[in-house]
Amino acid sequence: MPDMPLPQMTSLKDCNRVWINVNLATFDPTLPDAYGVRTQCALGVLNGRIACIQPMSSVTATSLPYDVIDGHNRWLTPGLIDCHTHLVFGGNRANEFEQRQQGKSYQEIAQKGGGILSTVRATRVRSKEQLIKSALPRLEALIREGVTTVEIKSGYGLSLSDEIKMLEVARELGNRVPIRVKTTLLAAHTLPPEYAGRPDDYIDLVCNEIIPTVAEQGLADAVDAFCETVGFDLKQCERVFRTALDHNLAIKGHTEQLSLTRSSSLAASMGALSCDHLEYLDETGAVDLSQSGTVAVLLPGAFYYLKQSRKPPIELLRRFKVPMAVATDVNPGSSPLASIRLMMNMSCILFQLSAAEAVAGTTREAARALGIIDDFGTIEVGKIADLCLWDTNHPNELPYELGHSPLQQRILGGDIV
Ligand code: NIG
Ligand code: FE
Repeated sequence: MPDMPLPQMTSLKDCNRVWINVNLATFDPTLPDAYGVRTQCALGVLNGRIACIQPMSSVTATSLPYDVIDGHNRWLTPGLIDCHTHLVFGGNRANEFEQRQQGKSYQEIAQKGGGILSTVRATRVRSKEQLIKSALPRLEALIREGVTTVEIKSGYGLSLSDEIKMLEVARELGNRVPIRVKTTLLAAHTLPPEYAGRPDDYIDLVCNEIIPTVAEQGLADAVDAFCETVGFDLKQCERVFRTALDHNLAIKGHTEQLSLTRSSSLAASMGALSCDHLEYLDETGAVDLSQSGTVAVLLPGAFYYLKQSRKPPIELLRRFKVPMAVATDVNPGSSPLASIRLMMNMSCILFQLSAAEAVAGTTREAARALGIIDDFGTIEVGKIADLCLWDTNHPNELPYELGHSPLQQRILGGDIV
């Protein structure tokens, strides 16, 4: 990790590396347009951070250091951030895909012991190395599209040792391939079979053993809970969130996905970083998110896969200025879709986001959702130089055309990887 932020502009000459002839979609919120556009720039990196942004008109050959990369008028955006994934899991659920095509619902399948629990069985019997091997192709797909930071949740272990195994796998993935990984403990995903009929006893385990151990071992950056009839009720989620906060872990929730539970208001009142899904969120919930600065994470892949008819209330979120992020939710049941650009597109087509909102949702707002906005998510002097260079005429092409990748360079801490 690069060292201290650079509060002041460094001269290009003193930078380690400079990109010249680049257009920037900075997403700097102080700039007037939604993309934060600065055309025809030079961008310099020092010690892994953005150290200088200057118009090309003021650049001369003698003002440049040795290491110069010509961007040929291509576009730089912040590196993409996928702020909600379950990309570590055993097996797959193609059989449930078929059942759902025959008319069975996600909830029905879950109630019969399938759904999340079938992935729990498949995850528990796999070794760490097997889980790493099966997760890598999904992660590599995200990397090929320009993702530089990914959040990975546990939640298919549901015992102390299996949740730890999943978090260790998630962390190890960040050592195997060049991407930053943020981990989230989702022990409160669903009730494991050995606790059937005893949800409060399982929440005791989560709060008395799993959260404290995971916190002590530094394995998670945040704690999540699935507040739903097939997950946990408000009281149980509140206990999980309270315990997390007591252990200095950030909180976030799977809230209002399948019904209105008021879990978004609960999470917001406790200072959650984000509330995710939100198809059933109402005006009160939107106001509560707005007041706490909690990010609304939209997951159009799950909405699409579950053939939901009710959309998250985008107009309300806009009206109350709730920041909106967009993520893949990669998981074997409701969103087996490892493509952040597909999610940008779906958020536009299915949820009527603007192209600018979709790209901001996978950069600046996703950084906010992970609590890393001070260092990531926009192109501003002082931030870590995680960037993507795109062969496009404008960043509005990112949610527009799919099937091939215009990504030219993925830049992590100023290095092309
Ligand atoms: O985000 N909603 C709960 N969890 C996941 C689905 C997990 C699964 O079906 O395996 C989600 O949609
Ligand atoms: Fe999820």
